[in-house]
Amino acid sequence: MKKYAKFISLVLAVMMFAGVFAGCGGDGNTTSGEPNTTSTEPIPTDFTTITEGVLTMSTNAEFPPYEMTDDNGDYIGIDVEVAKAIADKLGLTLQINDMGFDAAITACQNGASDIVMAGLTVNADREAIINFSNTYAKGVQVVIVTEDSPIASIDDLEGKKIGTQMGTTGYIYCSDTPENGGYGEENVTGYDSGITAVQALINGQVDAVVIDNEPAKVFVQENPGLKILDTEFTNEDYAIGVNKSNTALLDAINAALAELMNDGTFQSIVDKYITAE
Ligand code: ARG
Repeated sequence: MKKYAKFISLVLAVMMFAGVFAGCGGDGNTTSGEPNTTSTEPIPTDFTTITEGVLTMSTNAEFPPYEMTDDNGDYIGIDVEVAKAIADKLGLTLQINDMGFDAAITACQNGASDIVMAGLTVNADREAIINFSNTYAKGVQVVIVTEDSPIASIDDLEGKKIGTQMGTTGYIYCSDTPENGGYGEENVTGYDSGITAVQALINGQVDAVVIDNEPAKVFVQENPGLKILDTEFTNEDYAIGVNKSNTALLDAINAALAELMNDGTFQSIVDKYITAE
């Protein structure tokens, strides 16, 4: 059953998009789940970007399978390919600026980048400083521990040392007060990247790592002796962050994203990087 869960959530995401745009088109035919290409709005062309002809994206390329570098140092991953496909649709060349995770959001906020794509979870604090596109993926915060760990559920995390990537939702939840469902700031270390947190776990500096499920799977696969607990921490939506003042670009990105969802391009990119186990 479990292996179908991801597939089903993706189907639901696609159906949601089809539904939203079928609604705009006004034909109301949302029941079939078939791509409804006729009702997709044309992509607006009245947007501007920081550099003419270029879509500048800030990211933190240490988050497989969403953004990472290959052996040649080239940027790859779901976000990278989706961003390229969106840039193509908008007649732009994609420029990727790799930096720390917090810095990637700040760059978009300050207008140093047009967009931030970083497996970025939508939350209220971020909505106050950047705009978000329609969501394109689901994320789940999971717990990585060593295979011999006594930690079996999220309740066992109380009083334990938790590693996270600085600035991420994993850090935000875990460092919250126990009354708010967290474990207290004093118990949480924010590392520069997810993999640094995982290395701290391997070295015994922390007892567990809380991170998004897809990178967790990659890190556990690449590092023997680790496992992901079955308990799921929180469910989240990923979206593209767009500079607040650039609503024309936000509209164009949403239209391009809808086309990629409707014509199957989006799903084929996801399938390249996430194989149903
Ligand atoms: N989804 C989490 C968040 O938005 C983690 C994202 C980390 N992304 C990255 N490229 N390092 O906070």
